[in-house]
Amino acid sequence: MRIAMIVHGGAWAIPDEQVEAHLAGCRAALAAGWAILERGGSARDACEAAVRLLEDDPTFDAGTGSHLTAAGTVELDAAMMDGQSLLYGAVANLRRVRNPISLAHRLLQGPATFLVGEGAEHFAAAQGITLCDNRELVVERERKLWEAWRASQAAAADRGAQSVMGGRDTVGALALDQSGNLVAANSTGGTPFKFPGRVGDTPLIGCGLYADAQIGGAVCTGWGEAIVRVALARRVVDLLERGLAPQAAAEAAVRILNRRVTGGAGGCIVLTPDGRPGLAWNTRRMAYAYRSGASDPVYGV
Ligand code: GLY
Repeated sequence: MRIAMIVHGGAWAIPDEQVEAHLAGCRAALAAGWAILERGGSARDACEAAVRLLEDDPTFDAGTGSHLTAAGTVELDAAMMDGQSLLYGAVANLRRVRNPISLAHRLLQGPATFLVGEGAEHFAAAQGITLCDNRELVVERERKLWEAWRASQAAAADRGAQSVMGGRDTVGALALDQSGNLVAANSTGGTPFKFPGRVGDTPLIGCGLYADAQIGGAVCTGWGEAIVRVALARRVVDLLERGLAPQAAAEAAVRILNRRVTGGAGGCIVLTPDGRPGLAWNTRRMAYAYRSGASDPVYGV
C-alpha cells in the first residue's frame, strides 16, 4: 500500500525573511511523519509527530510561539480525525498544554469527543501530560506585537476599528499509512489578539479538518470565522466524492471561500486514499511539504 503525507505551516502573508524558517519547519515535520509511515507506523502517529514538531517550532502559530489573545495569554486549539473509523477528537482554549495535538489524539479513544478549557487540562494531567505555565508558550516576538497592539487600542477604539485579522496561521497534516488509513490533524493559537474564549475553524469537524479513508481528507488554514461559514474541509471532501481530482477540489473550495464570504482568506491541503495530494490558497503564501510513494519530497512557500 502506498504511503503519503502532506503538511502545512499556515496560509498568510509570510514575509520574505521568514520563508526559510517556514520551509525548514515543514520539511522537518514531513520527515518526522514520513519516518513513522515508512516503518509501518500509523497515520495517527505520523500526524501527531509532524504537528508536535510544528507546535514546538516558534515560527508557527501553534503551541509555543502562538499569537496572544487580547488578554495577553496563549489559548490553543487542535483536532485529529481518523478516516477509517471516523473517530474525531478535539480540544480548545488550552492554556497549559504544550502540545494540544497529543491530547486531541488521545481523545480518539474517549471519554469525550471535544474537551475545552480547564476540563481538558484536567483530563490531560490525568493522562500523564505535564502541564506548563502559560508564559512558557509566549515568545518575545508575540509579546512585543501584543504590547504594540495594546498601545494602539485606545486610538482604534475611538475609530470603531474591528479586531485584527491576518497574522501567521495554524499548522496541519494529512497522512496515509500502509494499512490504508487516512488521518487529518491540525493545531493553532488562533487569530492575533482574539477575544479570550474565541474558537475558530481548527478544532471544528468539517470546518478545519475532515478525513474519510474511502474518499479523502482535507485540512484548512486561514481566517476561522470565514472558514466555518462554508464548512470548508467538508466542502473539499464533498468535491472529492463528486469525482474531482485533489488539486481541482482544493482550488474549487478556495474559490467557494472567496465567492461566499467577504474577506475569506485561507487555504487547504488535501490527500486522497491513493496518495494524491492537492493544495490551494488565496493568501500571499502558504508553507507546505508533501511526499507520496516513491516520489521525492516537495516543499514550498
Ligand atoms: N484558522 C485558525 C483560526 O482561525 O483560529
